[in-house]
Amino acid sequence: MSGTATVIAVGYAGLAALSLVLAVAVWRSTRSRRAVDAARLAKRENASLAAVVAILVALLLGTIFLVPYGESAPAGSQRVSVTGFQFAWLIEPQVVKANVPVEFELTSSDVSHAFAVYDEDGVLLTQVQVVPGRTQKLVYTFEEPGTYDVLCLEFCGFAHDVMRGTIEVRA
Ligand code: CUA
Repeated sequence: MSGTATVIAVGYAGLAALSLVLAVAVWRSTRSRRAVDAARLAKRENASLAAVVAILVALLLGTIFLVPYGESAPAGSQRVSVTGFQFAWLIEPQVVKANVPVEFELTSSDVSHAFAVYDEDGVLLTQVQVVPGRTQKLVYTFEEPGTYDVLCLEFCGFAHDVMRGTIEVRA
């Protein structure tokens, strides 16, 4: 199992365990014979609202700086044009140089896709949405020579899972 697959499996197992705990807690709360203390419940409601807001703000601050959108390509970058369609990627050129930024110009000729680049160990390196009628830009620098896999990360039809491509990076 690759590192990414392990993270996903462990994450889902944790989520399943948490859901089970919550379901049992809700079920038990329906069995309680104690009188309802509305004032105490109202106070708890405010506390849980504050906790949810704090979690959402933390998630936002922890991820917003990783968003790949809006970066402009430095001078001397390589340009690669990518077209997504049901169900393949057209990548031109398919060979790029390592350690020189690549500016991908991506578009879709039909429905929404997501362009994702993986290294040889199956680790996700970068990804962006690719939508019809708009050119999406992505700047990425490959550090190691090798063959990189391109997958589609947005469900785009019955053969979404075979929508693959490769990029070759040379020294
Ligand atoms: Cu394209 Cu899924």
